[in-house]
Amino acid sequence: MENLQEYIARTLFGLEDVLVKELEDLGAKNIQKLKRAVSFEGDKALMYRANLHLRTALRILKPIHRFEARNEHQFYRGIQSINWSKHMDKRDTFAIDTTVYSDYFTHSKYVMYKAKDAIVDQFRKHFHERPSIDVDAPTLRIHVHISERDCTVLLDSSGSSLHKRAYRTKTHRAPINEVLAAGMVLLSDWRGERPFCDMMCGAGTIVCEAALIGQNIAAGTYRKQFGFQTWQDYDHTLWRSIQEEAKAAERPLEHPIVATDIASKTVDMARGNMILPAFEEIRVSRKDFFKNSPKYENGVLMMNPPYGERYHEDDILDFYKKIGDSMKKYYVGYEAWIISSNKQAIKNIGLRPSKKYQLFNGRLECKFHKYDLYKGTKDKDK
Ligand SMILES: C[S@@+](CC[C@H](N)C(=O)[O-])C[C@H]1O[C@@H](n2cnc3c(N)ncnc32)[C@H](O)[C@@H]1O
Repeated sequence: MENLQEYIARTLFGLEDVLVKELEDLGAKNIQKLKRAVSFEGDKALMYRANLHLRTALRILKPIHRFEARNEHQFYRGIQSINWSKHMDKRDTFAIDTTVYSDYFTHSKYVMYKAKDAIVDQFRKHFHERPSIDVDAPTLRIHVHISERDCTVLLDSSGSSLHKRAYRTKTHRAPINEVLAAGMVLLSDWRGERPFCDMMCGAGTIVCEAALIGQNIAAGTYRKQFGFQTWQDYDHTLWRSIQEEAKAAERPLEHPIVATDIASKTVDMARGNMILPAFEEIRVSRKDFFKNSPKYENGVLMMNPPYGERYHEDDILDFYKKIGDSMKKYYVGYEAWIISSNKQAIKNIGLRPSKKYQLFNGRLECKFHKYDLYKGTKDKDK
């Protein structure tokens, strides 16, 4: 590996360890777990692979400069000390995202305007022309991170967030983020070796991510664009070879993936999201989880049931009790995984979890529990 460069992959709370493992599998060096992020080193090819393959990364950022600043003048000078013409041309467009945790700088918008001024002034001085701002689809997305007086400037090699896999066209009120869904499947250790099902599938995100994992299809296969493709050092031949290498590593599914939901409109929507060939093996149908046994044995059941916002308290507790009863009755031989933000309700499943994770679904802190449903599975209180 030549020209090692530091990168930072951002992720969701609770998925850091999974991301570390994904980076190890890709051959990244000096991997370090951070809070909702993992730093690593690699060459350009590794950064391209990371963008294409990582299922639990939201963005891959390339730090280009670190400096200290205690006031706006020092900050402006720090941004100006970067030779921006190495990263963009006057005809390019750019956008700046800021994250600020600092007593020295309190308004992130103000930091963003100051950074923009520093860049634009540098171009005006040297070229009499300046790149313009495009917040939606810039050729260069810049992140400025300030923690107290420590400022880091990073380039976003992903562009739009990597959870945008470009396969989902239809969503409902509560779809789960693709990165979270993929992280849940990876946490379960399912890689395609047994049947997989989500019997409260909603838009079908969990089963779609499972289908990609089961067939070893890279997470970013269907995306049209990554940030690094509009960078000045973009290597199209290298990118094509990395895409081809990923395609050659795909494999067929050997076990069924099943998705059901009680609402027929939701089932239609899930079907609408599964038009790509990668999803054609997913068997989607309308079913009430409480009244149906699975068609296949010894599978993995993963569900994101309603959390109860639209339910009466007693009803949601009873709903989760029925989930536990149905698992015990119909899913013997399965491993079951449930994610929920309703801590009281999840206890009502009435089974002892064999694994427990803490995750976030958007802003909601969630439990992600595993239940082993072997014959004679003991109830929690027995
Ligand atoms: C929170 S949503 C699932 C969201 C899904 N993970 C996604 O990404 O779109 C919960 C789903 O459970 C379904 N549901 C509720 N009761 C059900 C039952 N008895 N049987 C099957 N599905 C049910 C709802 O129709 C809803 O689509």
